[in-house]
Amino acid sequence: MERVPTGIPGLDELIQGGFLVGSSILVAGGAGCGKTIFAMQYVYKGAELYKDPGIYITIEEGPKNIWWNMTSFKWNIAKYQQEGLIKIYRMNLRDPKTFVKDFETEIGRIKDMVSEIDARRLVIDSTTSFAIFMSEQSEIRYNLFKLVDETKKLDVTTVLTAETFGGRDQFSRFGVEDFITDGVIGLYFRPPMRALLVKKMRGTAHDPKPHPLIIGPNGMEVKPQEQILWDALK
Ligand SMILES: Nc1ncnc2c1ncn2[C@@H]1O[C@H](COP(=O)(O)OP(=O)(O)OP(=O)(O)O)[C@@H](O)[C@H]1O
Ligand SMILES: [Mg+2]
Repeated sequence: MERVPTGIPGLDELIQGGFLVGSSILVAGGAGCGKTIFAMQYVYKGAELYKDPGIYITIEEGPKNIWWNMTSFKWNIAKYQQEGLIKIYRMNLRDPKTFVKDFETEIGRIKDMVSEIDARRLVIDSTTSFAIFMSEQSEIRYNLFKLVDETKKLDVTTVLTAETFGGRDQFSRFGVEDFITDGVIGLYFRPPMRALLVKKMRGTAHDPKPHPLIIGPNGMEVKPQEQILWDALK
């Protein structure tokens, strides 16, 4: 089966070479654990190393944070935007009152963008901020399901992020994100240590252990040969 290399050095070794084409992967973790860097690196390295067209969707976060992450790593995202390989788009969801209609429109826009650049990679960062437009848990769950379902209909491999409270057993905020996606990757920050765990990867004999995660000048990388004890993530 065809796989999409993640662009995160060391990670592909843990998951038989990459994400299955067409799958949806949740990257979950507490504040500042590296979810946005992971997601941006997936799209950026996809363009740089594999010439894969990619789309990065943010929901509430302004492009500023993305810009900071870029300058922090000296990634030349603008170059690939100009070449039409990368698109960054902020979902236009402002008013909870018009959410249902706006959501439909925005999903339509994502579909258009995907076919426009023939995208192979898609990011939605984050599914948690998406929920601020809804008050009922059932409504949140329904719409998260719909979002993942719609991305699965597209011919792309999708990375979605979810903000948790950072606990080692937490992989979602609303209790559904990790069930409706095909893969789940947990990121942890226990200062000064960072770790990554592949919690689930459908169709893949994945590594079951937490591994050191390093964020440096070239982005993030995983140390597949070294492991972190589960107890250290308490
Ligand atoms: N160049 C760098 N070198 C080392 N660490 C860095 C670098 N740039 C950013 N970081 C670390 O990455 C963290 C931010 O990561 P990121 O924005 O991906 O987290 P996040 O999980 O998306 O957080 P949030 O839940 O707030 O959205 C910073 O707090 C900092 O610790
Ligand atoms: Mg983030």
